[in-house]
Amino acid sequence: MNQAELHRYLVSKEPKIDDAQQLKTYFDLRLATNLSLIKSLFFSLYNEKEYVDQFYVLIDQIETLYGQRSLALQQQDIERLRAGNWYQSEQMVGMQLYVDRFNKNISGLNEKLPYFKDLGINFLHLMPVTNRPAGENDGGYAVNSYHEIDPRYGTKDEFVALTKNARKKGIFLMLDFVVNHTSDEFEWAKKAKAGNAKYQGYYYTYPTRHIPDEFEKTLPEIFPQSAPGNFTYNKEMEKWVMTCFNHYQWDLNYRNPEVFIEMLANLMSLANLGVDVIRFDALAFLWKKLGTQSQNLPEAHALISLFRMCLQVIAPGVILLAEAIVAPRNILKYFGEGMLEGNECEIAYNASLMALLWNSIATKQASLMLKSLTEIPTKPKDATWINYIRCHDDIGLGYDDNFIASMGWDPRAHKEFLLNYYCGKLAWSPAKGLMFMYNPKNGDGRITGSAASLLGLETALAQNNKNIIEYAIAKILMMHGIILTIGGIPMIYAGDEIGTLNDYTFEQDADHVNDNRWVNRPLQDWNTISKLNKTPDSPPTIIFKGLKNMIRIRKDHTVFKDTNNLKIYGCPNPHIFVYKRTEGERNIYILSNFNEVTEKLDIGWLHSIGIQTGKTTIDLLTDHPLELINNELPLKPFQQLWIKNS
Ligand code: GLC
Repeated sequence: MNQAELHRYLVSKEPKIDDAQQLKTYFDLRLATNLSLIKSLFFSLYNEKEYVDQFYVLIDQIETLYGQRSLALQQQDIERLRAGNWYQSEQMVGMQLYVDRFNKNISGLNEKLPYFKDLGINFLHLMPVTNRPAGENDGGYAVNSYHEIDPRYGTKDEFVALTKNARKKGIFLMLDFVVNHTSDEFEWAKKAKAGNAKYQGYYYTYPTRHIPDEFEKTLPEIFPQSAPGNFTYNKEMEKWVMTCFNHYQWDLNYRNPEVFIEMLANLMSLANLGVDVIRFDALAFLWKKLGTQSQNLPEAHALISLFRMCLQVIAPGVILLAEAIVAPRNILKYFGEGMLEGNECEIAYNASLMALLWNSIATKQASLMLKSLTEIPTKPKDATWINYIRCHDDIGLGYDDNFIASMGWDPRAHKEFLLNYYCGKLAWSPAKGLMFMYNPKNGDGRITGSAASLLGLETALAQNNKNIIEYAIAKILMMHGIILTIGGIPMIYAGDEIGTLNDYTFEQDADHVNDNRWVNRPLQDWNTISKLNKTPDSPPTIIFKGLKNMIRIRKDHTVFKDTNNLKIYGCPNPHIFVYKRTEGERNIYILSNFNEVTEKLDIGWLHSIGIQTGKTTIDLLTDHPLELINNELPLKPFQQLWIKNS
């Protein structure tokens, strides 16, 4: 049983009077409930003898931060608690977007809220909107402030108006908390540069190369091409500072408890803007230790749980998403393990599924996906995934090498095949992506590109080939069909709903040219959107309508609520991926053909897994009964069926 369940129990005992006094009583109860956990976590990271005073500072801080939360948000927190695991609902359908690239600024976004309603979106991930350095800033992931809105997006008032409007329309919001690093222009970094020893201690700073060199022996490189190494020399300080990402992103030193206490306040300043879900950015990197890769360390988990336990006392309605793009088994740990199960992050990116889907497209087989997904332990019952095919980042090929080997493939050669398939090195591949951060030292590389271009639409349109265009559209819909049905919150990347192609204009922009992730960060194409109804046969219209239909069906069937009610089948046909979602007596089966030719399934096998084949069994996507030929169910190239018995 996680702590959230205890808080839910405590509010359920009281009548629904949520005035300030009652709310404060709930706060006191929450603090009492989490206090010993907070204490154990804090002293597991910070020596008790040395830091006992800091512990009391933290407790005062929690109280102060609660006092700063508005009454409306305090009330909403309690409503959210009473609503249980609202984030597992089948009603949740997300979209991720850059506010400026979507519709210029915050008020532009506010005007477009009806667009989301039309498509069925009720959850928005807004990319960073707070102050950042001019010039290169990693799309806002170099943070100058955690709560001041960057003027190019608008004002804080406009942002708060947006969050209120979204709340009124039943739209949930997610923002990033860039928890691992600040920009080199952040107030602490500025003070550090000016020679202030206290703030130099907020980062990992060193006068000589001695310790940096020791760290470099085991730290991997995140951006080996554009930002090699993990330390940057700062002339003003005359010191080396740890910069695992870009040279202008300084890693915070959480070995110093003051950093944690101050970052908790920064977290709350973000949450108080009216945010429902906080995306903990790059959280695998939070704790650094010599002799290790400094990722996924037990101390990082303790720290995240400490954030979680404090946030839960201050604002129990706000939940956390883990952005841990790490090995499959490691991702699960961000839901909390053992004593901490359910007390870390409620949501995590399903980066494993995402990478496996792209592998299945390139190999035209679902076998690796089947093996990997069935052999990884189930997530805890209160947790859920964000399922996605594309986001603003690259696609990392994060597979378990043992699983690759068990397919009879050599892991290194297989990686090379995938990079070649997606990055224009195989003449027969329709994919049009770019190679990101290729590291010749170890053959590692990642892939960038929009979903539509990676799935062949760009090539097909250039060749004006009707067949390949149809295949590309079918692939786009099939991939989205999986993220909409496999369990968790589907997150559609803005532009993918109309099949937006790669945007090569980043090559002309000095601030973006070194980072080809910008190829998949296009401007939202409102011109195309305005014509959707007038061009029924165009790819954007077919994709948009197809997605809208799928979203509607998802929301109409509570079986799609995530209660760990997923069963994946070992299918006799390796090209077809088959799973079932269950609620009581009701089942829906999802079948997806990853091959470019028609594939078949035998009626006997269908019956053995419970799919009936009479007239009352229908494909929800078309509302038609299944059509068997010679006792076999054919699936056309990249066809997907959502099958419901009677
Ligand atoms: C996350 C973001 C990515 C950013 C990095 C550093 O991985 O998704 O865009 O570059 O963190 O903040």
